[in-house]
Amino acid sequence: MTNYNKVLKEVLNFIRPKPEEKRKLESLAKQALALTKKEAKKINAKAILAGSITRDTWLSDKMEFDVFVLFSSKLKEKRMEELGLKLGKKVINQLKGHYVIEYAEHPYVSGSVSGIDIDIVPCFEISSPENLKSAVDRTPFHVRYIEKNLSFKLSDEVRLLKQFLKTLEAYGADAKTEGFSGYVCELLVIKYKKFVNILQSAVSWKPGEIIDLEKYYPKSDYPKLKRQFKSQVLILIDPTDKKRNTTAALSTRNFFKFKKYAKEFLEKPSSNLFFPKKLEILTEDEVIRLQIQRRTELIIVKLTPSKVVPDILWPQLRRFAERLQSILEEVKYEFKVLRKAVYTDEKDLAVVLLEMEVSKLPTVQKRIGPSIFDLEDSKNFIKKYKDQALAGPYTEGNFWAVEVRRKFLTAREKLIDSLNKSFEILTAKGIPNHIAKQITKEFEIISETIKIMELIKKDKDFGVFLRRYFEKECLG
Ligand code: UTP
Ligand code: MN
Ligand code: MN
Repeated sequence: MTNYNKVLKEVLNFIRPKPEEKRKLESLAKQALALTKKEAKKINAKAILAGSITRDTWLSDKMEFDVFVLFSSKLKEKRMEELGLKLGKKVINQLKGHYVIEYAEHPYVSGSVSGIDIDIVPCFEISSPENLKSAVDRTPFHVRYIEKNLSFKLSDEVRLLKQFLKTLEAYGADAKTEGFSGYVCELLVIKYKKFVNILQSAVSWKPGEIIDLEKYYPKSDYPKLKRQFKSQVLILIDPTDKKRNTTAALSTRNFFKFKKYAKEFLEKPSSNLFFPKKLEILTEDEVIRLQIQRRTELIIVKLTPSKVVPDILWPQLRRFAERLQSILEEVKYEFKVLRKAVYTDEKDLAVVLLEMEVSKLPTVQKRIGPSIFDLEDSKNFIKKYKDQALAGPYTEGNFWAVEVRRKFLTAREKLIDSLNKSFEILTAKGIPNHIAKQITKEFEIISETIKIMELIKKDKDFGVFLRRYFEKECLG
């Protein structure tokens, strides 16, 4: 245990806010809360602090706090949004800061005041989470639960967990990250107390693991629960709403990544696991070498993303990648995707990377027809292919067969053909709307090494993304 403590102490020295930072954040929070309360009162609303400031679980490099404005649930949603934004702007202006409007389920004000970020989020005040209208309405319940159950003595344990997950790029339940939210970190600390205990339990978590802090369910209900939360790799029941899994957004990859590095830390404690190592971009030599080694073809479908929030963009881009794969793998075309990944800078560039196992095919394609004993089908088959066949129809055993000219010889041709379509056709093929819209304007398909290198030069993070893609990552 002692060797853990030495490392963890060293890490905490970096991530625990300095007294000066703490004083600064807390005094601004107090001021912002008082202002928000005063303004809220005029319109029959209330204000509370929420998130990591309430239990002092924030990391020193995220000077941010959250203010929630609670409106009567009798208000219309539109009206609540309007009043919430107006109030948020007013408060930030009074604090002499700047703000932008962010979009979650509702728009909210995200302000910046002397280096500190303030989220002012409107929500409905409801009597029980069963009556919630949107996900933010839960937050006041979370605040109360955390205040009651998480002792200030454990703040540093939450910080360690957040920082550990951050390094794994698994901190945050947003659509890009698909990781653990701040609230989930706090719940895990309530359950297991010490950071090291969390890692120890995580090592033995199995897919479909159930963690039920409030013991809402008897063990005999677990099989039923697993069916109810089917395909969710970790089931951490929300203590404030037993019907909800707080880790619903967690990807299987992040689940196994956490288990892997938890084990690694326990076996060989090192502060390196708390600080991300800087990855270099993939070099031209490496790209060439990888292609010789793997003998696959890289196809990059590139577009400019439309101006939507990341929580919409990322899932749409992933779904687009799925659709591209199924377009290529339609039975009659016979292309095959080995693996794929998506990348976007959320601004100018969005990319689907398709690593092709089969991207080029011979001109001739063989099709097997009906049994020679099915006279009617045989007649139709022969009639259909007689004129267009390169060879046949001939018999192979008891079946008819024919060789025809293939429509698409390369995956690139197939993709260009499928994507040069109207918005209506693209969306009918299951391509998400914001992607389809951009595709109708412009897209590019890249596979030459030179062009890939040009793209890396323009966007370094894309180069890092490529390196990651090719890294052998053993999660087992
Ligand atoms: P945060 O993302 O700020 O997390 O959301 P946190 O718990 O304070 O942790 P850190 O230290 O900042 O990383 C604070 C609360 O606001 C809600 C979250 O669910 C959480 O309860 N929230 C925030 C939303 O529901 N939607 C948003 O768009 C933002
Ligand atoms: Mn926060
Ligand atoms: Mn926030």
